Amino acid sequence: MIEPIKWKNNKIIFIDQTKLPERLKYARCGDVDRLCEAIKKLEVRGAPLIGVAVAMGYALAAVNSKEKTFAGLKKDLSAASKKLRATRPTAVNLFWALKRMEDVLYNFASCPAGQLAKLYRVKKIILQEALSILKEDKRMCVSIGKNGARLIKNGDIILTHCNAGILATAGQGTALSIIYEANKQGKRFKVFSDETRPLMQGSRLTMWELMQNGIDATLICDCMAASAIKNKGVTKIIVGADRIARNGDAANKIGTYGLAVLARHHGIPFYIAAPSSTIDKNIRSGKDIPIEERKKEEVIYTGSKQTAPVNAKVYNPAFDVTPAELITAIITENGVYEIKRFRRI
Ligand code: MRU
Repeated sequence: MIEPIKWKNNKIIFIDQTKLPERLKYARCGDVDRLCEAIKKLEVRGAPLIGVAVAMGYALAAVNSKEKTFAGLKKDLSAASKKLRATRPTAVNLFWALKRMEDVLYNFASCPAGQLAKLYRVKKIILQEALSILKEDKRMCVSIGKNGARLIKNGDIILTHCNAGILATAGQGTALSIIYEANKQGKRFKVFSDETRPLMQGSRLTMWELMQNGIDATLICDCMAASAIKNKGVTKIIVGADRIARNGDAANKIGTYGLAVLARHHGIPFYIAAPSSTIDKNIRSGKDIPIEERKKEEVIYTGSKQTAPVNAKVYNPAFDVTPAELITAIITENGVYEIKRFRRI
């Protein structure tokens, strides 16, 4: 299986996802500013992968710090954390991972030792924590896949949106992990992937990785989802999430909410697959989830081709919130949680 992110010789190596599907290109990143740029431009994307990336970015800042005192290192790390926090606002995994990294530093602060020995040890522990987050993410993907695969039946036709697969995590994905596990279990099913305008994560990334992994996948434009559900017999919708509020409202790639409405109308289940680190216990409902708005050029241009007047007014939210009442169940590494008994209407 490909690895979208790795730590090698004190550098972060990641797949530049903006180059897919034409080229599978790895980029080498040696400083936090370059990593921040990669996250903002979606070279590295997907909520769990962003979490792993910022943890590694924090470790990179520790390794690169030239400070000779613990206080100096803390200053460097807090500057790095501030930059990483400002990259993307919606995926809570980013803030969750940085909190874990910062806790390591603060728990270490009281450790009695000489300055230099302390600096060496804390840098080592910070790196270990980032690598633990990476390893846990891989395990979590498999557990989500196994929990969700129980819901897949022979003959299912599954619709997915955006990319919640290998490329969005350090492992085998969340929504797509379910597909990979069900496939391993020998279940026979088909997948439809929305192309996911404006940045095409569905056509560029999901189609690429499903085809690489031998899954029977068909690409549709976003506007074809209703027709595919009605005329091609879609039986369930499975997507990922960037942040889930305490009441079960879930933010995911723009277009997800519309799919949940469609699922309800057509009487098919709508599932969210996400690690427990995507649940934001500080947020009561979806109203409090910050939604990233991206630049208008992403809508005015399709790739490098201008497809709208350059001075067009544009609304470009990167995510929407699906209310809990439209979600059949949330699948995490810990199990399948039914939000409200699914009713066929
Ligand atoms: O803007 P992106 O590509 O980072 O958005 C990604 C999504 O919306 C995914 O569905 C979500 O992060 C879940 S990834 C397992």
